[in-house]
Amino acid sequence: MAGLLDGKVAIITGAGGGLGEAYARLFAKEGASVVVNDLGGSRDGSGNGTSAAAQKVVDDIIAAGGKAVANADDVSTMAGGENILKTALDSFGRVDILVCNAGILRDKSFANTSEQDWDLVIKVHLKGTYCCVLPVWKWMKENGGGSMVLTSSTSGLYGNFGQTNYGAAKAGIYGMVRVLSIEGRKYNIRVMGLAPGAYTRMTSDLPGRIGKEPDPLSLPENVAPGVLFMVSDLAADHSGKILGVSSRGVREIKMLQTEGFQPGRPYTAQEVAENAAKVFFADAAERTAASA
Ligand SMILES: NC(=O)c1ccc[n+]([C@@H]2O[C@H](COP(=O)([O-])OP(=O)(O)OC[C@H]3O[C@@H](n4cnc5c(N)ncnc54)[C@H](O)[C@@H]3O)[C@@H](O)[C@H]2O)c1
Repeated sequence: MAGLLDGKVAIITGAGGGLGEAYARLFAKEGASVVVNDLGGSRDGSGNGTSAAAQKVVDDIIAAGGKAVANADDVSTMAGGENILKTALDSFGRVDILVCNAGILRDKSFANTSEQDWDLVIKVHLKGTYCCVLPVWKWMKENGGGSMVLTSSTSGLYGNFGQTNYGAAKAGIYGMVRVLSIEGRKYNIRVMGLAPGAYTRMTSDLPGRIGKEPDPLSLPENVAPGVLFMVSDLAADHSGKILGVSSRGVREIKMLQTEGFQPGRPYTAQEVAENAAKVFFADAAERTAASA
């Protein structure tokens, strides 16, 4: 049976476990040759990793009849990003798909965040996305295009307590999706964003989840089809869009603008305040009125 990714070459970062591993297994099943990148690090990015995690995923894919190669480079360095592309080109001769997924967590309420925590989280997520996208972007630009999925998060798009560093990085990645989708049009490069939700080592100790069996819909395998859709031809020419994919299903997450206040002449702060209640914060005002 024909696969959705037959003949394609995909790079997936952070694919030695969690969500990335589920993407790698599904992409290989759908006919892609997969570069499984992962430095095998700890959840908070401390200590030295090993290539064992990526190699295990590769061994399983090959045992199941698929094609894959391991790469243990650090996504957060330019040399790492370049070498990940080199692994794809040396092993499979091209790249059609990039999924930037690698990530770490260092959650703390803002006043308790150290500069080191801030720097490392921004480096792995935001700079790491840059370091992996840039070499692949240049290659795709010269070779007919391709598709990318960059991993954002509701923590950055909606906000979440204790995640200023992570939320800032993830909102930055949203900005990259928007800008790159515009620049990519003329090179046939599509760039989509993902806000996933799944039970992995990153989320297994969230309040309410500790010690609980994951509900079957929360497994990474239930996020993978949403990502497969975005990188495949099923997504047609969609670009610059963010999908939320989790046990709650699949939805588009949009930045929305209210109708606004535009008097067409200079205005005062008091006038903005009067109109804010009517047009900007109308829903909040309705809620306040309803609860009064
Ligand atoms: N699980 C969720 O509900 C959820 C929610 C929102 C966003 N995300 C995002 O999804 C992505 C995957 O998360 P996950 O839940 O599978 O976590 P995970 O910890 O299971 O997987 C992340 C992987 O990235 C690898 N990694 C970390 N730093 C790396 C580096 N510098 N270079 C190469 N590999 C590196 C880790 O070794 C790990 O295998 C992350 O970007 C995360 O922020 C996850």
